Amino acid sequence: MELNEAINLRTSVRYFMEEPVSDGEIRALIEAAIRAPTASGLENWLFVVFKSDEAREKIYELIGEGMEEYYRAVNLPEEKIKKLRGRIFEGGMFRAPAYIAVFINRDVRFLKGKEFDDVEFLWSAESAALAIENLMLKAVELGLGTVYIGVTNFRGIEEKVRELAGLGEEWALVGVIPVGRPRGEVKPRKRKKSVDEVLRFV
Ligand SMILES: Cc1cc2nc3c(=O)[nH]c(=O)nc-3n(C[C@H](O)[C@H](O)[C@H](O)COP(=O)(O)O)c2cc1C
Repeated sequence: MELNEAINLRTSVRYFMEEPVSDGEIRALIEAAIRAPTASGLENWLFVVFKSDEAREKIYELIGEGMEEYYRAVNLPEEKIKKLRGRIFEGGMFRAPAYIAVFINRDVRFLKGKEFDDVEFLWSAESAALAIENLMLKAVELGLGTVYIGVTNFRGIEEKVRELAGLGEEWALVGVIPVGRPRGEVKPRKRKKSVDEVLRFV
């Protein structure tokens, strides 16, 4: 597949078929992920795959919990929240055969001074986000769908994801990526802004 095709076909997929994703496919995604640039060459990322029924159920519930918190935070009316809850818990939105949780290790640092705490964290998170985009583009090539889940970073939820992954507090969650074969039509979303609106030459 041409890179341009993968870039233009990638879109957030939130409904998946039950058909499993093979370990070989997961490996191919992570091989693509770790080709991303990584600040100071640190590679302080970790990709934890939730594939067992038990772990998947827990992560799916945590995503549902986070989404509900998000809908409340953006002041959606209760009626609408109820409908969206139904889409998640009855419609199976976000229910996937595999979830990849991407973590970074805060203790693995290149610049050690306190004054670099923020920038080191930002660089690590940015590196992991670039890895996630590589993974998402590779998924398109393999006929798989993905969506970036950020709500699992909400307080009280991130800790549970870390616990489920069996990791210590030095590991910060960057995102959770449900992966599976898309259920229904995949239609890339239009952008609200044109190139002319977001491009400036100086
Ligand atoms: C950092 C980040 C966090 C996101 N968190 C969520 C999320 O928690 N739940 C969700 O359904 N989509 C989430 N998304 C997906 C965006 O909603 C989506 O990318 C955006 O609406 C554009 O649509 P597209 O990906 O189909 O082009 C997130 C995307 C990014 C980059």
